[in-house]
Amino acid sequence: MLRIAVLGSGRGSNFQAILSAVQSGALPKVRICLVISNNSSAGILEIARSNGIPALHLSQKAFATEEDFLQAMLEAFRVHDVNFVVLAGYMKRVHPEVIRRFRGRIVNIHPALLPKFGGQGMYGHHVHEAVIAARETVSGATVHIVDEEYDRGPIVLQRTVEVSPADTPETLAAKVLTIEHELYPDALRLIAEGETPRSQTSH
Ligand code: GRF
Repeated sequence: MLRIAVLGSGRGSNFQAILSAVQSGALPKVRICLVISNNSSAGILEIARSNGIPALHLSQKAFATEEDFLQAMLEAFRVHDVNFVVLAGYMKRVHPEVIRRFRGRIVNIHPALLPKFGGQGMYGHHVHEAVIAARETVSGATVHIVDEEYDRGPIVLQRTVEVSPADTPETLAAKVLTIEHELYPDALRLIAEGETPRSQTSH
């Protein structure tokens, strides 16, 4: 069973898609145990609260040191018995100690076909602007394992969309977001059912 914590900073549409998949019975081996946001007014927290899912505002700013912040996050994972972390629009760097403890058990969704259009600075509209500037005819979304390098971990699943000459960064973002909402639940299903030998958490 994947006991997931979902981390996000914004509206939470990917979280909503995962939640809907869980609620409909499409992800029987996934349980959403916790939602964490660095942003107290994030939509993702509201969605969690209105669905009775533990929702935590956890911002580095509220802690004296990075270590205190890290410990608060690890403690929340422990309390809710989290064994897998899902990043869904989380705009903060994940502490290397979290990556170490959850090695192979953290995933992220990126709105392009990695390894293209990834890395530092490649987020949000920057990604779609770069895709259009490069005159790509295909873009898409990628779910990948998170390691210490931005957007470089092993790819779990990708899906493509066509880029038409008429696309703007906004229209392309909307197209990609639509497939993200199918891709993320599909990737979690694969992981949950694959039972691949991922390293265990050690709290
Ligand atoms: C998505 O486009 C995702 O690819 C990126 O951040 C956005 C999050 O959107 N990492 P939402 O908060 O899930 O609606």
